[in-house]
Amino acid sequence: MRRYSRITGTGSYLPPRRLTNADLAAELAAKGVETSDEWIVERTGIRARHFAAPDVTTSDLGAQAARQALEAASIPASDIDLIIVATSTPDMVFPSAACILQNKLGIGGCAAFDVQAVCSGFVYALTVADSMIQTGAANKALVIGAEVFSRILDFSDRTTCVLFGDGAGAVVLEASDTPGILASDLHADGKHVGILCVPGTVSGGQVLGDPVLKMDGQAVFKLAVGVLEDAARATLAKAGKTEADIDWLIPHQANIRIMQSTAKKLKLPMDKVVVTVDQHGNTSAASIPLALDAWVRNGKIKKGDTLMLEGVGGGFTWGAVLLDF
Ligand code: ACO
Repeated sequence: MRRYSRITGTGSYLPPRRLTNADLAAELAAKGVETSDEWIVERTGIRARHFAAPDVTTSDLGAQAARQALEAASIPASDIDLIIVATSTPDMVFPSAACILQNKLGIGGCAAFDVQAVCSGFVYALTVADSMIQTGAANKALVIGAEVFSRILDFSDRTTCVLFGDGAGAVVLEASDTPGILASDLHADGKHVGILCVPGTVSGGQVLGDPVLKMDGQAVFKLAVGVLEDAARATLAKAGKTEADIDWLIPHQANIRIMQSTAKKLKLPMDKVVVTVDQHGNTSAASIPLALDAWVRNGKIKKGDTLMLEGVGGGFTWGAVLLDF
């Protein structure tokens, strides 16, 4: 009998400090940077974001989300035999945020590693965990997307610092006789490194290069819309399904206009699209599991619904996962 993987619990965590656009605009104005609620809402759909306190790390946020997912799955942390954290803002250069988080959950021994695919990180991590469960390498996995993007923002650059937020989302993925994950499709094209990157690195005891986010917004926008449509169609084809089978599209929450364009290309009404970017901003690898958990907890996503998860981000990376919830 074929082994599948299935999500059995979801969880999420947002740090308590919430800034509306007006709050952020006031903080930026004090530094001589001009922006407005109107501009941010019109161009991005973002109304608020959460920022972690200075001493709070990615593994702190991820561990909170993981605890909630374990509770929802009704299993103890000690049952977990694989932890994958998708992040571009790990606590340290090494070890991985996954190892630090494993220790915070009070467990040890199981495989734990990070996946770095920026805003596509969660669909990459979910695909890796699914593959490991299908082959029997794991039985019960925690797949987490967690970020503190506020640490890598340039608050003098209004074209980027208004877009991002911090947070974490998690799922428990367990082996099952029935799907679960139906198909996935992952891609990358490294020739686009320069349009979205944090070019700094640690060398010789110093930070070399600029350790803050750089983005060509319009180039990202154009690429994102095209690849999200392609990834969704490829994933549907692999699963022998069509757009009509999708109950909920859960795209990476970067920008409402990217989501609207993707939905239009897939001929999906916006009431089938999960939107949390207004409240969370862009939380990179955390955005999809945060959105999933929000819609599970508000009762809109129900057991048996077919979900299309889609990510796109720096690298350039992109991908999609189709699953029965
Ligand atoms: N507040 C006020 N004005 C601003 C701000 C701001 N925060 N940022 C830029 N502006 C100004 C610019 O200076 C410019 O002014 P000018 O015309 O006088 O020169 C004007 O607004 C227009 O700027 P553009 O950069 O052309 O604005 P655009 O319509 O392209 O919107 C945006 C920028 C929102 C970044 C858009 O390009 C976009 O959505 N790109 C997609 C990128 C994205 O969402 N990335 C997220 C990370 S990537 C990922 O997650 C996949």
